[in-house]
Order: sequence, then C-alpha cells, then structure tokens
Amino acid sequence: MVPMVDLKKQFIEIKDEVIEMLTGILESTQYILGPRVVELEKKIAEYHGVKEGLGVASGTDALHLAIKALGVGQGDEVITTPFTFFATAEAILYVGAKPVFVDLEPDTMNIDPKKIEEKITKNTKAIIPVHIFGHPADMEKINAIAKKHNLKVIEDCAQSFGAAINGKRAGSFGDAGCFSFYPSKNLGAFGDGGMIIVDDPSIADEIRMYRNHGSKGAYKHEAIGFNSRLDDMQAGILLVKFKRIDEYNAKRREKAALYNKLISAKIEKPVERPGNTHVYHQYTIRSSRRSELQNILREKNISSVVYYPIPLHLQEALKYLGYKKGDFPVAENAADTVLSLPMYPELDESAIKEVAEAINNA
Ligand SMILES: Cc1ncc(COP(=O)(O)O)c(C=O)c1O
Repeated sequence: MVPMVDLKKQFIEIKDEVIEMLTGILESTQYILGPRVVELEKKIAEYHGVKEGLGVASGTDALHLAIKALGVGQGDEVITTPFTFFATAEAILYVGAKPVFVDLEPDTMNIDPKKIEEKITKNTKAIIPVHIFGHPADMEKINAIAKKHNLKVIEDCAQSFGAAINGKRAGSFGDAGCFSFYPSKNLGAFGDGGMIIVDDPSIADEIRMYRNHGSKGAYKHEAIGFNSRLDDMQAGILLVKFKRIDEYNAKRREKAALYNKLISAKIEKPVERPGNTHVYHQYTIRSSRRSELQNILREKNISSVVYYPIPLHLQEALKYLGYKKGDFPVAENAADTVLSLPMYPELDESAIKEVAEAINNA
C-alpha cells in the first residue's frame, strides 16, 4: 500500500522531542495563548519577514479573522479562485461579503491576474489568491491590480508554508497571510490550528481582539468577537516541526523532482514557474482519462485523491450566487483532470518508482 501521507513516520522521528515539549507544557499549566504560542508567532513572523503572527484555531478562522480585521463586511465583494478548498469562500461569507470568482491560469491552476480587473466593481474590497497545492499565485501582478484599485490582499497560504517567489515567502506579499496547521499540511499540528501574519500592528491588534471575544483585556469587550485561540500544546508541537520545515519542504521538492524524472507517460505534470519555489503540498498530475488511471492505481494499492472534483461556483451550497457550468472553463477542466499522488517528506524512493511505473504502464 502506498498512502497519500504517512504522519506516523514523521512522528516517530520527532517523538522524543515532542513528548519532552508536551510534558513541559503540561507541567507549566499554561495551555492557551501561552509562551509557546507567543514563541511560535514570533518565529513564523520572522521567517516571513513581517512584524506579527497571530495564532488562531484553524486556517478557516485565520481567513475569517483577517478578512474581518481588514474591514471587509456586509455587501462587499471579494475576488477569489473557484478552484480551492471550500473554506476560502466560507470565510468570505462569514462576514456577509460575496465571493466573486475569477478563472485560473491553466499551468499553475492559480487565479489568473489577467481576468481579475473585469470583475472589479464599486463593491470590491479585497482579493484572496490561494497558492494552490504549494505553488505561489502571481503576487506581483495581483498586488499591482490591488494597488491600482485600492483593494486589500489576503493570501490563503493553507497549502503553501515555505513557498516563495524570488526568495520572498508566500504570505508576506499581501495585507495578511493565512496559514492552516491541519495535521497533513506542510507544517501540521496534531489537531486544528492556524496563523495570520501581518505587517501592520494595528491590524494585528484587531485580530488579537477578535480571536479573544472582542476583548483587549480585563473583561472589557469592544466588539463581538470569537473564541479562536491557538493552544500551547499545538504550538509546542509546531515549534518542534518548524525547526525542520525547510528540510521537510526540501524533501518534498526532491520527491517531486523524482516523480518528474520517472513519469514518462503522456500526462501533465505540475509546473514550477521560473523564480518560484513550489513546496508540493500536493504533487498533482492531470489526465483526461483520470478515472481509468485512478482505477489502475487503486488495483495496485496506490492511493490517489482528486483535489477538488467540484469547483466552488458549482457547489450546491453556493448555488444562490447564480453561477453555472461553463462560467470558468479552466477551473472546470482542472476539476475534471487533476489527480494528486502520494506526497510527504518521508515518502520512499521505491514507492515513487512504483507509482511512476504504474502510471507509465497504464
Ligand atoms: C486552500 C485552503 N484554505 C483554507 C483551508 C482551511 O484550513 P483549516 O482546515 O485549518 O480550517 C484549507 C485546508 O484545509 C485549504 O486547503
């Protein structure tokens, strides 16, 4: 069996350090927004070259609170991609704003900057690019459009911890960068967690208030907020893994390079545009005969997953937005052809050979 991810292999490597970390936290009895959270926030902000990091309860909350703190609300429009996890749109809807979708670049499957301006109206307040599968969106072009039209930019970095464009990390281009620490993410906790990075201390203060019941302290509440706090056990585990994140990402890149070398079948392999550092949260191929290919892999006990079979504009829950099939042909084609293969830092070379061989023979 070749699984999509194997979290146990990674855990075994760091087990002693994790247990020591957790024991220290348990003994300290500082469990929520304590010193480990503060340390992680500081390290992740530094890693991205920005002033502040704010630990929250999930990647979804990171998006929600960033959108809210940046002043997007009822009646506003937010431009984003239809080819992403549902949470990107949910977070926009939580504040009463409307997601407005824009089709993709065919190669990276990220939002196509050339198609953004035609969707901007007087109600548009922000753009949320998603660095899908770990390849950065074209932030230079997106930021130029945002600047011209006075829009906020919130990067959905749930799948792209450590990705970069010309050495500058994804998450540090916009007004806010939002990360998920879901266990299978490039930097994953042992439960839910998330972080927002921002360079503007006043926005950081707003987020700090919203994540803690709208309070700036001493049981004084300035706004209706949320309970969205990161806990120290997750932060402690993340500190152990953060030390190794560049190594983990380098290993993912090595595995991707080996897949690229060994797969010779007529399928599309992931691209990495010049100057970009793809961190391969997923290694995603494309084939017009995807279901046949997936069946063959299944017969050989090789896992593969379709992320994502239904683009957001065709989701039942978003039907009322009025989109229809054919509105975003590039996204619809992506949803019909993508197939993600096993990918994690500890994936064996022999497993990659097995997968590549199965695809080539198919
Ligand atoms: C692109 C994207 N955005 C947002 C999220 C939401 O993150 P979480 O599951 O931590 O709430 C995820 C991951 O699950 C994601 O892949």
